[in-house]
Formats: sequence, C-alpha cells, structure tokens
Amino acid sequence: ELGPYDHYMQKEIFEQPGALANTLEMVSNASALSPNLFGAEAVDIFARTQQILILACGTSYHAACVARYWLESVAGLPTTVEIASEYRYRTSVALPNTLVMTISQSGETADTIAALQHAKSLGMNDTLTICNVPESALIRQSKLRFLTRAGPEIGVASTKAFTTQLAALFVLVLVLAKQRGQLAPAQEQELLAALRHLPAAMQHVLEIEPQIQTWAKAFADKRHTLFLGRGVHYPIAQEGALKLKEITYIHAEAYAAGELKHGPLALVDADMPVVVVAPNDALIDKLKSNLQEVRARGGELFVFADRDTHISEEDGVHVINLVDHAGLLSPILHVLPLQLLSYHAALVKGTDVDKPRNLAKSVTVE
Ligand code: F6R
Repeated sequence: ELGPYDHYMQKEIFEQPGALANTLEMVSNASALSPNLFGAEAVDIFARTQQILILACGTSYHAACVARYWLESVAGLPTTVEIASEYRYRTSVALPNTLVMTISQSGETADTIAALQHAKSLGMNDTLTICNVPESALIRQSKLRFLTRAGPEIGVASTKAFTTQLAALFVLVLVLAKQRGQLAPAQEQELLAALRHLPAAMQHVLEIEPQIQTWAKAFADKRHTLFLGRGVHYPIAQEGALKLKEITYIHAEAYAAGELKHGPLALVDADMPVVVVAPNDALIDKLKSNLQEVRARGGELFVFADRDTHISEEDGVHVINLVDHAGLLSPILHVLPLQLLSYHAALVKGTDVDKPRNLAKSVTVE
C-alpha cells in the first residue's frame, strides 16, 4: 500500500500534485467557470451573498484563513473566519445574506458540525461545505458542496486534504468574482491556466526534498521554533507550525512577521530556529527588514524563498528557492516544504509520524 514510501504522511505529501489535478478535473475540462460546480442552487445563493463566514478547525481553519485573503481581494466579499469550537459557544450577531461555509477533510468534526448548526439557528441558512468525504455529516447538512478529491488521508497530520481544499476554495473565489462582475474574461482564463499548471509546479517544489532533509537535522534537537509569514502566507506559517508541533512535539509558534517587534522578538536567540515563508510578493521588502531584525539578535534563519525573491545565503541565513513566484496561488506551493520539513524532523527524532501521540484522525467528539 505504501509503495516506495516509508509512511502515509510521506506518501500523501507526494500524492498532492495528483490529488490537486483530480480535484480540479471538472474545472480543467471546462472552458469557463460555472456556479453549478457547487450545486444547483448555487447561482441563486451566490447572487444574494453579501458576506462570508467560514467555520473550521485545525488545518482546515488555516485553509479558511488563506481563502479570506482571496475572497476579499479577488471577489470583494467581506469574510470572517472563525474557529468552530469558539463560534459555537460565542454570542454573535448574525448578518443577513451571509454564506456560511464549512471546510473539513472528514466532514465529521464535531465542533464544525455544531458551529454550522449554530449558524443555522441564528437564521443563516445559505450553507456550503468543502469536504473530502461524500455523504459525510457536513455534506448532508449543507445546501451547496464541493468535494475535494484527495482520496483517503490516513496520516493523522493533514497534507493533501489541505492543498486540495485550497484549490477548491480558489475555484470558489473565481466563480464568485465572476458572478459579481469582478473578473474580466482575460483574467479568468489567465487564472484558470495558472491553476492547471499548479500540479506541475507542485511536482517541482517536491523535488527539493533532499535539501530539506539536511535542514531537518538542525531542528530535531531544538525545543522551540518560530515560523514567520506575511499576508496570505501568514496562515501558511501557522500551518507549518501546526505540522511541526503535532508530529515532532517541538514547540512551534507562527507570527505575522510584522508583529515580531511587538513581543516575540524577545525570544529570539541562536537556539530557536526561525522558519520563514518568503515568496516574492508585494510584502517581500517588508519581510526582508523583519528578517534583519531576527538576524541582528543572533537568530538562525531557514528561508523558503521563490527563485525571484533574491535572498542570499550568508552566515546564519539558509535559503531554499522553490520556483518563480506563483502569484495568488503561491500559498499552495509554499506549504509543501513546511510539510516536508516536519516529516523529516520527525524522522530524525524518531516520533510516530503517522500516529502522533494524543491525537485522533477525526475528532468526532467535543
Ligand atoms: C492537523 C489536522 C487537524 C484537522 C482538524 C479538522 O494536521 O489534521 O487539525 O485539520 O481536526 O479536521 P477536519 O478537516 O476533518 O474537519
């Protein structure tokens, strides 16, 4: 079953280009995007949608956080993202014409189901789920749905479910933008082409595994790590930190890099490796000055950059270049090396990669 791989997590990391291509099959074969991809009622529901509320847990929550940037910047839709276990017990104000979205690999996460039911109890009945399991509770309880086609995910740490969720969310953003008249035909075609190219780009990024294996040795004996990102890559830094925590038991914290000087910079020393998500996007110059702040305090930097980011290796600054900057789709590429880094750090430490202690694959109880 594992084929050439040692663990399900490794297998699932490498399955991602194929999982993404499967998830996008219906989109890739179509010449243009249609709301029907989300269900028969989608045209009407999307037409009245004025804002979005996304509810999810864990890695699926991080996918929601990425989607918020896309939904606001591409589709112009105000978006709120909430941790399901918080939302379900919070007294909140329901806004009219809200599309309530849930994101879940299993479709059976108790808190996410309860959060959806809570939103409905407040009168918000336009619901959409992005889910990897057909006939799951979330699918049954939502009017609209998009099934990711990641295939069964066995490793407890979510990998291919996350990237396929992001691909599905991107399709949703394009459909909403188009219906709202915010997407010119040329831009639609351009973004669809970028989406179709994504599996090949992912394949390229995965080829850096041997370099990451070398880096992983520097993490295995550390107690604490910091992950930095900005903008749409801040949730990617959060996801990288979650992966490291859950399978290596090394304490990892993610910060939006601009927030460093508001506290966490005090932690930085030579014993706390700092992982940096450094795509060549509009925030790169800001990020570079954040990195200098870390370096000046003796922090060792492990930077995942784009080929065109132009950060050079020097004392205490290690750099792996992925591919040329992928624009809006960049988060889907930048999470891959973080998954690999956690996997290889766990191997060096000898932890149970596929079944980390204290965790279950599907959290069906509160
Ligand atoms: C982390 C992980 C969990 C799940 C979370 C939600 O690697 O797997 O954080 O993402 O328990 O699960 P689903 O997506 O099934 O609702």
